[in-house]
Amino acid sequence: MPMKTTSTAPTALKLHLKTAVSQLLAMELDAPELPKVVQQIHSIFQEASQITGFDQKLEYLAAVPTTKGKALGLNHAAQCLLDYHRTHLFLKGMYQSIIQLLAKQKSPVHVCYAGCGPYAPFMNLIAVLFTPEEVQFTLLEINEHSLKAAQNTSIAFEHQAYVRAYFCADATSFSLPEATSYHLLFSETLDALLYRECYVPILANLLRQLPENTTVIPHNVTLQLSKAKTSLQEGGLDEQPLNELFNTRELLKKHQYELPAVIALQTIPLQTLSPTEYPFLIVDTCVHVTENLQLKRGSSSLSLALELQLAPENKQQRLQFQYVLSPEIELQCHYLPE
Ligand SMILES: C[S@@+](CC[C@H](N)C(=O)[O-])C[C@H]1O[C@@H](n2cnc3c(N)ncnc32)[C@H](O)[C@@H]1O
Repeated sequence: MPMKTTSTAPTALKLHLKTAVSQLLAMELDAPELPKVVQQIHSIFQEASQITGFDQKLEYLAAVPTTKGKALGLNHAAQCLLDYHRTHLFLKGMYQSIIQLLAKQKSPVHVCYAGCGPYAPFMNLIAVLFTPEEVQFTLLEINEHSLKAAQNTSIAFEHQAYVRAYFCADATSFSLPEATSYHLLFSETLDALLYRECYVPILANLLRQLPENTTVIPHNVTLQLSKAKTSLQEGGLDEQPLNELFNTRELLKKHQYELPAVIALQTIPLQTLSPTEYPFLIVDTCVHVTENLQLKRGSSSLSLALELQLAPENKQQRLQFQYVLSPEIELQCHYLPE
C-alpha cells in the first residue's frame, strides 16, 4: 500500500507558486489583494522549506556577526517575505532586469544572490518564470542554517538546475570565484537608515570584483534629509526637501570601494534650517530597487522615516552627520559647538 503523506508533491507546490507569482507580477503597487497573495506565497515557502519563520529554536533566532555589521537570524530573514511592498517591488525589479539582460545576451544571466536567507525567495520566485538556460544563481549566505534551508527549499521546488553554486560565507569579505562571469548582484541586506545590516560593505566588497556594468538590485540606497513645520504624526506640514545625506553608489565610487571606518557626511549650521519655524528634520531611506522602481516612504520596514526634533536654543550650533561602519554600522548625528 502506498505511504500516506500530508505534504504536497513538488510539481503541485511549483504550480501553486507559479500561479501566485504571476498574480503578484501583474498587480499594481497599491493593489488591495497584495497582502493575501504574498501570504499565500509565504505559506508555500513554509511548506517547501519546513521553516515557519516562527520556530523557537535558538539557532533560528540568533543574529550572526559579520566582519562588518550583523546578519539577521534565520527567523527574521524568513519573515522578510511578509514585508509585502518590499517583496512585490523586488520581484518586479528582478523580473524586469532579467528580461532586459536576456534581450542583450544569448548566454544565461548569472546572478550572485548575496544573503539568500532560508527561502532564497528571489531565486525560487524567479525560477518559475525562466528556464535554467536563461538564469543561473549563486547563493551566498553567512548563516549556515539559512543556507541549508535554502538548499532544502530549492530541492522541494525542484529548482536545483538553477543553482550554480552555494557558498556559506561572509559577503563583506568573500572572494567570489569567477567573479567576472556575473551579470546581476542581488542583495537585500538592508534596514531603514542603512542601520546595522551589511548592504554597504557587501557592495564595497563584491562590486570591486564584479564587471563594471553589473546590474545591482537594489540599484542604490540613498538617505535624504527634509525639514517640516510639524511632526510626521501631525502631517509633516510644509515639508521641504534639503540635502541628500548619503548616496551608496556615489560614495563607493568616490572611495574606490575601500570604505573608511567613519564616512564624514554633511555638517549643517542649524541656523540655515530655520529651526524655530521648521523644528522637525526627517531622514528618508530611499530604496531604489531599480532605476525606475522605488519603495515609498513607510510602505516597507526598509523605508520607514526617522524624525528628529531640533532644539531652537541650539541654533548657533552645527549638526554633523556621519556613517560609521565599525564597530557597529549606523548613521550618527551630533551637535557640534559653534
Ligand atoms: C534581510 S534578509 C533577506 C532574505 C531574503 N533574501 C529575502 O529577501 O527575503 C538578509 C539575509 O542576508 C544574510 N546576510 C546578511 N549579511 C550577510 C553577509 N555579510 N554575508 C552573507 N549573508 C549575509 C542574512 O543572514 C539574511 O539571511
